[in-house]
Amino acid sequence: MSVRADTVEPMPSPPAIEAIELVKRYGQETAVDGVSFTVPPGTVLGLLGPNGAGKTTTVRMMTTLTEPTSGTARVAGYDVLTDPDQVRRHMGLTGQVATVDELLTGRENIRMIGGLYGIRRNHLNRIGDQLLQQFSLTDAGDRVVKSYSGGMRRRLDLAVSLLASPPVLFLDEPTTGLDPRSRSELWDVLRGLVAQGTTLLLTTQYLEEADQLADNIVVIDRGRIIAQGSPLELKQQAGRASLVVTVADVADLEPAHALLARTGAEVFTDTAARRLTASADGLDDMISVAGWLRDSGIGVDDIGLSRPSLDDVFLTLTGHRTEDSEEVGA
Ligand SMILES: Nc1ncnc2c1ncn2[C@@H]1O[C@H](COP(=O)(O)OP(=O)(O)OP(=O)(O)O)[C@@H](O)[C@H]1O
Ligand SMILES: [Mg+2]
Repeated sequence: MSVRADTVEPMPSPPAIEAIELVKRYGQETAVDGVSFTVPPGTVLGLLGPNGAGKTTTVRMMTTLTEPTSGTARVAGYDVLTDPDQVRRHMGLTGQVATVDELLTGRENIRMIGGLYGIRRNHLNRIGDQLLQQFSLTDAGDRVVKSYSGGMRRRLDLAVSLLASPPVLFLDEPTTGLDPRSRSELWDVLRGLVAQGTTLLLTTQYLEEADQLADNIVVIDRGRIIAQGSPLELKQQAGRASLVVTVADVADLEPAHALLARTGAEVFTDTAARRLTASADGLDDMISVAGWLRDSGIGVDDIGLSRPSLDDVFLTLTGHRTEDSEEVGA
């Protein structure tokens, strides 16, 4: 039997990452315009935005690569302005552009970077091999990086940034240019890291990626935060769920239409697909409608609730889809 010390509130742990009114100006242009957010330890923040939104600039300020024009950030409790060395000691970064040395092999890159971190040779060989294996690079480990595919480079890049087991990891578009299989493999690796307690901030233009990985999402556009919340909260902002019913027989469309209309929603009919769609408040509406359909003996092929995708959210928030601006690197 376990006895708990009663009513002792746990101390809220300080955020692993804090952005505080970050601003970055380049001449006349304001790349980042007053961005603030916090990331609790052991969670994933997705920084989402189209090309030029200010994602990389925000990450560069938080990782001491560039100084904010104003504002500041803290990583693992250390301020980027007053304690940049401590910040660097507690973080890893995988940049948008691969930073591994092309002329070295995968293993040589690991040895070089690990050496810079001061990791002892034995240990380095062991974790180097582990990481190569984790990222399916064991066979390629002794080939020069020049001969790697884009996906292999990204994986090596990530492996290298994990050498020092940093508690906080920044990833700038980690899966850009990866094929779907490599992408989902990388997601698995990232989930594993988070399960071990790593705090992750990743930037992405892929809404699905944020949806898959992030506990919280900050959407930026033109240097400003335009929305934030959990993936679910953001989806709810974009509108209500839809109840979608496919009837087995076209003749049932009309009576089914009448039943759906009982929820008070407007019902749309797609005759060719034998499908009816109505906005719904959630599971309760679906359960009521399912009951009515059963009681009236209408055959149903499919019934479900569909929430707006993050793509819909993005469109609602910014007035444009992410693909609109995807000319870079295409
Ligand atoms: N060194 C720089 N000098 C001048 N302008 C810059 C510099 N770095 C970024 N910018 C500008 O700041 C804005 C934000 O750029 P940033 O690279 O942060 O966007 P991003 O969200 O990372 O975009 P992408 O999805 O294309 O990587 C852009 O308009 C960019 O042109
Ligand atoms: Mg960028």
